[in-house]
Amino acid sequence: MTANKRTATDPAPLLPAGSGRQGDPGTTPDTNRFTTPQIRQMLQRQWGDVLLQRLEVIGGIAARLGTPAYLVGGCVRDLLQNRPAPDLDLAIEGDVRALAESPPLQQPHAQCQLHPRFGTATLRYPDGFRLDFARCRIEHYPAPATLPEVRPGDIHSDLARRDFTINAMAVDLNPTTFGELLDPHGGRADLRQGLLRVLHAGSFLDDPTRILRGLRFAVRFQFRLEKGTRALLREALAQDILARLSGARLWRELQYLLELSDLPIALERLGAWRLWPLLRPEPADMESLLVRIRRGHQEIDWFRRHCPDETLFDAAVWLTILWRDIPWTEAEKRLHYWPVAGGHRILRDLRLLPDMPGALTRADRPSAAGRLWERLSLPGLLALCAEYPETDIMVESGHQHLRRQRWLSSPLNGKELQALGLTPGPRLGEVLERLRNARLDGEIKDKETARQWLIGQGILPSIQP
Ligand code: CTP
Repeated sequence: MTANKRTATDPAPLLPAGSGRQGDPGTTPDTNRFTTPQIRQMLQRQWGDVLLQRLEVIGGIAARLGTPAYLVGGCVRDLLQNRPAPDLDLAIEGDVRALAESPPLQQPHAQCQLHPRFGTATLRYPDGFRLDFARCRIEHYPAPATLPEVRPGDIHSDLARRDFTINAMAVDLNPTTFGELLDPHGGRADLRQGLLRVLHAGSFLDDPTRILRGLRFAVRFQFRLEKGTRALLREALAQDILARLSGARLWRELQYLLELSDLPIALERLGAWRLWPLLRPEPADMESLLVRIRRGHQEIDWFRRHCPDETLFDAAVWLTILWRDIPWTEAEKRLHYWPVAGGHRILRDLRLLPDMPGALTRADRPSAAGRLWERLSLPGLLALCAEYPETDIMVESGHQHLRRQRWLSSPLNGKELQALGLTPGPRLGEVLERLRNARLDGEIKDKETARQWLIGQGILPSIQP
């Protein structure tokens, strides 16, 4: 532990030298800090006795091994906000392996998985609980938007490398100081005021994914950017810093954003933060987009209810909705760069969608409509339905196709048709297709009606041997 560590009883305001907070008129010193028993109580109340005990065991072993352990990052933020934290992150001052593999830690049959390349480990308990261990580290960015060079550090350097003050707090697990909150950057004060504040002026340039992470936190917690951070965001965008990110890193962040349940708010914020160019060449007409997004959510819910065993890539639905009214080449440009699963299908759908409503309206039989729906991917179909009110005939037709029609096949298969005298070849395929259409149109329903239909069509002679 380093000498400059602040304690929860330290009366000085949490304004460390070099944090960039001195003289900031928007901030107030945190005079209302938690005591260690309070933090312990919060751990117990929010996460339960079992977890508290596990953390005490870890803290004790870590102290014996001389590798102090801390809860860090998002879970501390969530703890202070009274939010559930699904997984806990631990930062270790020292060797992760020795701690994670120590026999007493594995006591209640916990399984340890080491990731030597990253110097991290994961401990999974039989009740499904997960703890992630990482060595405290110092990060250095050799150039903007590149991955950082990393070397071992202490808890203070580990907190100083992080994205926002609200994510740069730790809880000490050492037995003698268990429950002490380390908050060297004023994260708790920012949590109370609902502010997102970077730790230093180069933060967005070092790691531009922080821009989109910030946007996500802003939406999830209804926080806003602190004034200085807003200015830094503008400067970073003026340098077109997001264009320096790899497509994979950018897409990962965008996908998280698209998967937020508050997508309308996320897109409104995206506009307010002047980030529309990431997704579209010009801002969307928010009024009509919000209607389609609300309908998109209904369509996705409908699909999950009625087809629970099938998987759906929600982000593809959102991209199709967002790109429906932009030039195809703009979507293509982005998908060329982002590794989106099934991106080629989104592009194909975007080409097909403009003609679909007219063609579906002209389709005079269920089989004709079915053939049209089949041209679209599942996300494309749901995106098209989202353009119409829930009770529209177009939506009914799309749902009918998904629930029933797409599963209907010809009542007679190829072997059975051959047994009836048809010869193998392309014509047999055509007959199968016609039988399927006849079934979609309600003209046949089983093998016998199919046989009669084949006779009626002159495909089979009327008297079978
Ligand atoms: N972090 C960071 N910069 C990044 C990514 C992560 O500083 N580009 C740090 C933050 O301190 C963050 C922690 O790593 O709190 C863990 O990251 P992650 O698991 O992605 O996010 P959480 O903050 O835990 O939030 P969530 O609830 O979304 O998991």
